[in-house]
Amino acid sequence: MSDPHSFEIQGILSVATGSGGLPVIHITSSRSRAEIYLHGAHVTDFRKAGEEPLLFMSGSSKFEVGKAIRGGIPIIFPWFGAREGHPAHGTARITPWEITAAEVLLDGSVQIVFRMPDAGNLEVTYWVTVGESLGLQLSVTNRGGNAVTFENCLHTYFQIGDVQSASVHGLKDCDYFDKVLDAGFTESADAVRITGEVDRVFLDTTAALTIEDPVLARSIRIAKSGSLSTIVWNPWIAKSQAMADFGDNEYPHMLCVESGNVSDNRITLPPGETSLMTVELSSAPLD
Ligand code: BG6
Repeated sequence: MSDPHSFEIQGILSVATGSGGLPVIHITSSRSRAEIYLHGAHVTDFRKAGEEPLLFMSGSSKFEVGKAIRGGIPIIFPWFGAREGHPAHGTARITPWEITAAEVLLDGSVQIVFRMPDAGNLEVTYWVTVGESLGLQLSVTNRGGNAVTFENCLHTYFQIGDVQSASVHGLKDCDYFDKVLDAGFTESADAVRITGEVDRVFLDTTAALTIEDPVLARSIRIAKSGSLSTIVWNPWIAKSQAMADFGDNEYPHMLCVESGNVSDNRITLPPGETSLMTVELSSAPLD
């Protein structure tokens, strides 16, 4: 395993001991800064200079070996949701990843590359590019002799001023499965609004999405390729209270809008092939 300190770049990229004694990478680009735990290759912070953090982090998050960090961007892989006798949402988010490269790009953004160890015949690589926007790219290559089926998802927790006044645009006419109501629907509204527990898996969504947040006066854009599913999640009151690693009163200040390939959008990768999912998160003042 490579020494994470060997990728440090003076004044730009450093490795420190973070919460729970876990190693954390601090990145300062010309326009923003970010924090990434090796545990799960988990981005826990991204903020542009002079702006509020883009990502929500729970004040009750555990930072423990074998547990997922609550907030930021957990990588969900190779399955999404519960699986009998196995960790929920797959092993990627509770695995310590390795750094394989880090560099400053010509535009002043900083790119770091991670590899997920112990992924069997799959070569799993994650690029995080910290600049004016936050670029994320997850690639899976099948080095084995048989086709492999998996799900993936960048389970992004956004920081929101007040979730009840926020709206998510870009999902109109998309089919979704509502995990709260246990039924399928087609979205008919121009914007998804959150007024109770929401747990919806939208399928075949390819358009860029925006979250309008009038309280923080910003619009967040989620542009993606290689991702057909979008999951919208807010635990609301009862579920928040039931989660040990989430504060009872945090739900108004977060919204997960997750990009991935889950359920009927799961990926089957023939031998020798690569699947690539790219997500770019950016923000702008709301007019
Ligand atoms: C969402 C799922 O993606 O993640 C929800 O759709 C789930 O059903 C949520 O509750 C959080 O999952 P976890 O395993 O991080 O508590």
